[in-house]
Amino acid sequence: MERQDGLRSVGSHDRAIPDALAACFRQGWANTGLKLPPLPGAAYAAKRRAAVSERFPNERIVIPSGGLKARSNDFDYTFRPHSAFIHLTAEQGTQAVPDSVLVFEPTGTGHSVTLFTRPRSPRDGGPNGTEFYRDRQYGEFWVGRRRTLSETADAFGIEAAARGELERALGADVPTRVLRGEDASVDALVPPAPGPEAELRTFLSELRLVKDEWEIEQLRTAVESTVAGFHDVAGELRHATGLARGERWIEGTFNRRARLDGYGLGFETIAAAGAHACVLHWMRNDGPVRDGDLLLLDAGVEADSFYTGDVTRTLPVSGRFTDVQRRVYDLVFAAQSAGIAALRPGARFSDFHNAAIRVIVEGLDSWGLRPGGTELAHDSTLYGRYTVCGTGHMLGLDCHDCASARNENYVNGTLEAGHVLTVEPGLYFQPDDLTVPEELRGIGVRIEDDFLITDDGSVCLSSGLPRSADEVEAWMASLR
Ligand code: GLY
Ligand code: MN
Repeated sequence: MERQDGLRSVGSHDRAIPDALAACFRQGWANTGLKLPPLPGAAYAAKRRAAVSERFPNERIVIPSGGLKARSNDFDYTFRPHSAFIHLTAEQGTQAVPDSVLVFEPTGTGHSVTLFTRPRSPRDGGPNGTEFYRDRQYGEFWVGRRRTLSETADAFGIEAAARGELERALGADVPTRVLRGEDASVDALVPPAPGPEAELRTFLSELRLVKDEWEIEQLRTAVESTVAGFHDVAGELRHATGLARGERWIEGTFNRRARLDGYGLGFETIAAAGAHACVLHWMRNDGPVRDGDLLLLDAGVEADSFYTGDVTRTLPVSGRFTDVQRRVYDLVFAAQSAGIAALRPGARFSDFHNAAIRVIVEGLDSWGLRPGGTELAHDSTLYGRYTVCGTGHMLGLDCHDCASARNENYVNGTLEAGHVLTVEPGLYFQPDDLTVPEELRGIGVRIEDDFLITDDGSVCLSSGLPRSADEVEAWMASLR
């Protein structure tokens, strides 16, 4: 009998395997090797690897994909590799292999790059020979087939080796930078180098700022699916009003589109009806969707290539905005329009935020709102109480992309052709905010679209969705 205990990957409820059955499992399998074409983004990933190689000559660079994370007991969350690993390999959703590690080994004239990975479960009875039928985390009969090493090399255009070889490969004494914090067993093999490793993280993040043509195509695909998800939801709004937890119906409707078209969600869906819209990241989604309320939906489909959309619409559940809802909506719309008009190469990243905020401040001022009451001197920054967060962010493999880029190249930097970003002003009047008239309390509005900076301006990738209040109402009416 084989051991049942001590292995997380074998459940306590799994039955023992008699020796005869183990012998039976070892034989009688057809050869089902594949000749895989290169991954669609492989040539672009090769250029990015060349940039890494050029930036860090004579150093070893180690980029782990990360591994499985336990959800509970022996069930794991769906695996998603680290975005830097995806960017440098062009790995695709359902094929991604946990615990892979990309290693750039200096050769004197550049680097040789090897992808250490878990190959297809062997069937030959050697080491790991029972994995395919016994291992619920990695076994082919449990979670599906992985590529063999030669299939991996063909798909990525990178030399492939078994993950078990990694320790030996990292053994020689070479200056090494690891993308640390993604794989504890890799981190343990290399002494930390905090400064150089922070520099690596920054470089990899900034390498993602300007998207190449393949990435732009992926983002277009992700945003198209996101737009389709919003149309799905609009078609289900009436149904959601009849349910105790209508927000969950909205979430589920969007999630169905995300799984159908892509790998899944780029971030947890925010389905916020009524005053929940005043909670910026309302992801509990356990409330009702009532006639007369607004529904704020902030959601994104992550494509199979892991690029994601990020769009927000605020819809009147009844189909028509009330006067006060429309007043708030129109101001956010005007702010977004001003932000969009500020998008062009050479503009500062802060320009679109400042343009949008100026419109919001002037609008709120004209309404006579005084957030500081009589206690504080009137000051336009106090309107931040109602708008709270920044007006947009870079978008790509991560919803909040390029998060480790230096300020001078991102928030204090300049827009360039190939940047992709969101413009998403909002107004959020908390239900208990005594500084605003009662009619405004509990109203939250955000409008968010995704933009590609071009040589002479910008294009909206999410233009397949109605944006103005009139367009939104016409859209709702067309669904009745
Ligand atoms: N869509 C969520 C966010 O941008 O924070
Ligand atoms: Mn966003």
